Amino acid sequence: MRALGVGILGLGNVGAGTVRLLGEHRARIEARLGASLHIRRVLVRDPARERAVATAPGLLTTDIEAVLGDPEIAVVVELMGGIEPARSYILAALRAGKHVVTANKAVLAERGAEIFAEAARVGRAVVFEGSVAGGIPLLRSLREGLASDRITGLCGIVNGTSNYILDAMTRTGAGFAEALAGAQAAGYAEADPTLDVGGGDAAHKLALLALVAFGVQVDPSTMPTEGISGITAFDIRAAAELGFVIKSLAIGQRDDHGVSLRVHPTLVPRGHVLAGVQGAFNAVLVQSDALGPSLYYGRGAGMMPTAVAVVSDILEVARDILAGLYSGTGPSGQPAIPPATPAT
Ligand code: HSE
Repeated sequence: MRALGVGILGLGNVGAGTVRLLGEHRARIEARLGASLHIRRVLVRDPARERAVATAPGLLTTDIEAVLGDPEIAVVVELMGGIEPARSYILAALRAGKHVVTANKAVLAERGAEIFAEAARVGRAVVFEGSVAGGIPLLRSLREGLASDRITGLCGIVNGTSNYILDAMTRTGAGFAEALAGAQAAGYAEADPTLDVGGGDAAHKLALLALVAFGVQVDPSTMPTEGISGITAFDIRAAAELGFVIKSLAIGQRDDHGVSLRVHPTLVPRGHVLAGVQGAFNAVLVQSDALGPSLYYGRGAGMMPTAVAVVSDILEVARDILAGLYSGTGPSGQPAIPPATPAT
């Protein structure tokens, strides 16, 4: 049976989930793929650190060249997060002839133009289902499931931490600070939750949704973005008295003049499908011409939900490699992204 090598950059929560899922589902994956996937190297900062998953001796390395220089590794999985060194490693992996799977929304939203251009130049894939809404197959649905339709709008909850906080404030009457402390204690918000509660994380995800749904590349720093840290218990109560729930929404709309994108707290009527989204769940409502509305709902973050998206991306790339999509000379494959045009 043919074997494809996989290199993983980062062994935090999602990295550990990816290693675990590839191990636990090995037999099923081999049966589906007709090939085996071998994790050959995992890049970490500190090999001595305790991990959420056991790894074979010699698997961990602190040397990126041990991953990029291994000719058996066909797919590099970037799960480090942040801009650098993730950006440099992704570019180096592409130049070394590797395909890239990543769940890193920040690097793609902020440096995607450079990364996708490089992928196109070298004929390698960059796939990123895990970067938006965790395990919900949302980008794949927009890209493939709705390929025959024209998406006109999307609107949803894409930051689980913000939804957890607003939901706790709605259900318990707690203030923002108390609900944030609860989210941190439950392991949702980061110790520095600025990107979550400031709306930056949702803006990164909306930029990637816009790329796939509308084919536009947008700098997230140009999007109107408002977080939830100014929402008070009084606001929640006042909204409830008027029949509304406050949700932090990422909203994208396309009309004849172009695409508009924004992230902000929104008054959602109590009976609306997004009003009932609880805890750290994500939900995105998509509007397209022929289908009409469709809803994508599920766990948008966490070790195993995001690992599901990452491993499915590895399988997608592996299938294309095995099908010979990348076997020609020179750039032959198509990065799994739509052609992008600047937003108007
Ligand atoms: N901090 C993110 C969230 C994690 O709360 O949704 C998943 O991207």
